[in-house]
Amino acid sequence: MPTYKFTVNDQPVSVDAPPGMAVLWVLRDKLGITGPKYGCGVNACKACTCLTNGVAVTTCSQRVSDIQGKKITTIEGLANGDTLHPVQQAWLDIDVPQCGFCQPGQIMATVDLLRRTRNKPTDADIDAIENMCRCGTYGRIRQAIKAAAAAMS
Ligand code: FES
Ligand code: FES
Repeated sequence: MPTYKFTVNDQPVSVDAPPGMAVLWVLRDKLGITGPKYGCGVNACKACTCLTNGVAVTTCSQRVSDIQGKKITTIEGLANGDTLHPVQQAWLDIDVPQCGFCQPGQIMATVDLLRRTRNKPTDADIDAIENMCRCGTYGRIRQAIKAAAAAMS
């Protein structure tokens, strides 16, 4: 079985895995990193969203052979020590989650959105986020994205 080397949350890792194994399962089952969630496995719900070299990717549809040498960031790697990332802080301040299942993916998608929009997302930009929330927290997510954008501007 091939060995893949990459970083997760700035820690170098080396994993033996079949080339087609989804990064989601590498993270969860081989590395014990359970922030990224399994919802659909077919790139529809986005609950598994993490960052690859800073770009949001659905890890259920990303193969481990595609991340050799790359930098993976999960929700576990966003905070700086005891200081939450501004997006996490906005989520807490606005009390966004209901069941919480989709929220790591929502937060990671937001981090990427704020990077792409330089902290000035329009409502249309926010509408373009495809992460699903079965609890319907979309209104609070929108508020939190705007609060995080203001904090980061
Ligand atoms: S589990 Fe990856 S998109 Fe649904
Ligand atoms: S908070 Fe329950 S699915 Fe989004």
